[in-house]
Formats: sequence, C-alpha cells, structure tokens
Amino acid sequence: MKVNGKNYKTIWMEGKKVKLIDQNLLPFRFEIIELENWEGICKAIKNMNIRGAGAIGVAAGYAMALAFVQSPGKGGEDYLWKSRKEIEQTRPTARDLFYATERVMQAGIAYGIEAAIEESEKLAIENEEEAKAIAIYGESLIPDSCNILTHCNAGWLGFVDWGSALAPIYLAHRKGKKIFVYVDETRPRLQGSRLTAWELQNEGIAHVIVADNAGAWLLSNNRVDLFITGADRIALNGDTANKIGTFEKAIVAKNFGVPFYVAAPLSTFDPACPDGSCIPIEHRPLEEITEMEGLDEKHHFIKIRISSPGSEALNPAFDITPSSYIHSLITSKGIIQPNNQAIRQLLFG
Ligand code: MRU
Repeated sequence: MKVNGKNYKTIWMEGKKVKLIDQNLLPFRFEIIELENWEGICKAIKNMNIRGAGAIGVAAGYAMALAFVQSPGKGGEDYLWKSRKEIEQTRPTARDLFYATERVMQAGIAYGIEAAIEESEKLAIENEEEAKAIAIYGESLIPDSCNILTHCNAGWLGFVDWGSALAPIYLAHRKGKKIFVYVDETRPRLQGSRLTAWELQNEGIAHVIVADNAGAWLLSNNRVDLFITGADRIALNGDTANKIGTFEKAIVAKNFGVPFYVAAPLSTFDPACPDGSCIPIEHRPLEEITEMEGLDEKHHFIKIRISSPGSEALNPAFDITPSSYIHSLITSKGIIQPNNQAIRQLLFG
C-alpha cells in the first residue's frame, strides 16, 4: 500500500520489535506503533489498533513469537501456554488468530526461539501472497463498469497488504476497469467510512459512503451489480462469520438476485467447525454503541454520547451468513462453491 507516496505494510517486524499502523487514528492521523512484548500486541489487538482477520492473525503470530523470546528458562512451557491462551482470547471470532498461534507454537516448541520468529515472518509473507492470489481470482468476477458494495474493511489494513474483499477491486481498477464502490459505514466502529473509504481514496477509486441500512434502497434502484465482503471464519459447510451486518447485506443481495461473494485466505477456514453454529461470536464493549468518537474543531479526538442515557446496549461484533446466501468464495486457490465438498477439497486436497 502507498501512503503519501511511500510504501507501507499494515504490520511488520524489525529486529525483535513489532511495528504497526495505528488504525484507531485513521483516517485523521497516520502513526506507527512500536511494540516490544506479546502483552502489548494483545492490547493492540483487543483495542483494535490493529484489526481485520488477516492482520490480527499476523499480529497474533508475532505475539506468540515474542512469547518465546520473553519466556523464562524454567517453567517456560507453562508460560508459553498461558501467553497463547491470552493471545487467543483477544478476538475470538477471527480464525486466523488461532491458525497463527498454532503454527508459531509448534515451530518454537520443536526448534526454539529463532524458529518461532521465522514462522511468524513466514505467516506475514503468506498473508500478503494469499491476498495477491485472491486479487487475481476475484478480479475475473468483476466486469468493466461495475458497481460494488462492500461492508466493513477487508482491504490493506485488514491484511499485511492488498486485503481480501478489496484486493480484486484494486486489481480491476489497476487494469483500467471502471469501478464504483458503495462503502457501508459499518457501525458501530465505522471501519467502512474511516478505513475502507480512506484506502479507496489512496487508490483513486470512485466511491461513496452509505448508511448501513441503505442496502435495500440501493438494490431496488439497480445501483449495485455485486457484493464482496471478507470473512473472519468460514465453517466447512461455507457458513461465514463476518462483521455484524454482513448477513443483512446477503439477505438483501439474495432478494434482488445480486451475487454475494466472500473473499478469504485459507487461514480463515476452520477445519474443526462443521457449520456456523460453532463459530464463537465476540461481544465488544457497550460504549462502542452508546458513544461515538471523532475530531473536535481543534482536531483533538473526542467521544460523545449518542444514545439515551440509561438505556442498555448489545454489541455482537460479527454475524453468521449461512452458505445458502453466498454465491461463491474467492480464495487464494481459486473460486469455489460454499459447500462441504468444495471446502474439504480446498483444505485437504
Ligand atoms: O472487527 P474487525 O474490524 O476486525 O472486523 C473486520 C471484518 O469483519 C472484516 O471484514 C474481516 O476481518 C475480513 S478480512 C480483513
């Protein structure tokens, strides 16, 4: 990704320090956070300084590697299991997180600290490579002069680079196709209006931000040709967890006969999960619903209350879209049908 003409990754390791773009400040400020221990990375994942399933996975891999670096000689294995559990509790819906801790833990236990670090770096490289492959397969589904609706942020910032849902859009645009993107604002944390809109602006792609509940209006006015979203976890039968509100979009898409695509790397598929009912749904702090954050006239971040004081809130961060609502899955190994047979073939050959 290019920010002000300079190449960046969302997250990377330098020596034994992890650096990441602070997504809580975007699009208003661009700052890099530097973290030296796994506890700091856990905090950054939980507070969503880094977010999006792909990027969370890479952050978790780095956290697990730093746990090996920090582990005391005596009682080391207990320390590693304790850290792993804490890392995994940060954002429990994102399958990539568990995929990463498992791989780095195995490498570190078998071959030591340097192997754990190497494995975490490997995960970051694979993350970017898979995103590029998703771009190539997904681009083939996008006709010229296409209006696309996306929900949440599944772009550069949700990965090391490129993204999942936005990667095919970036490639289509670079190939000269005329693309227009409707960006769901994505309440409550506004990943659409803050992050996706910022990314599209950086890429020079025409777009507008729409309220989350504009989907039926847009489709009844023939404004959308296809939907693409990312995924946080995909079950073996194709049921997909993604940002809250995704299922509503899929219902609208089906009603109007518009294809609904889900883009994801292999690390997002959960081979231990037969269907959506076993995907854990993260519940986040209620203030995300009752308050809103923005800039005041002096460009300081402020939070304001936007709901009736005294009323309770409920904040599930993800919902499950049943596979019957998904037209196809765009993966790094090709476009497949969201069903048991195709997903087993993808994962196990
Ligand atoms: O809560 P977030 O911002 O981490 O949720 C992100 C999403 O739901 C994305 O669509 C998903 O992770 C797909 S890939 C980045």
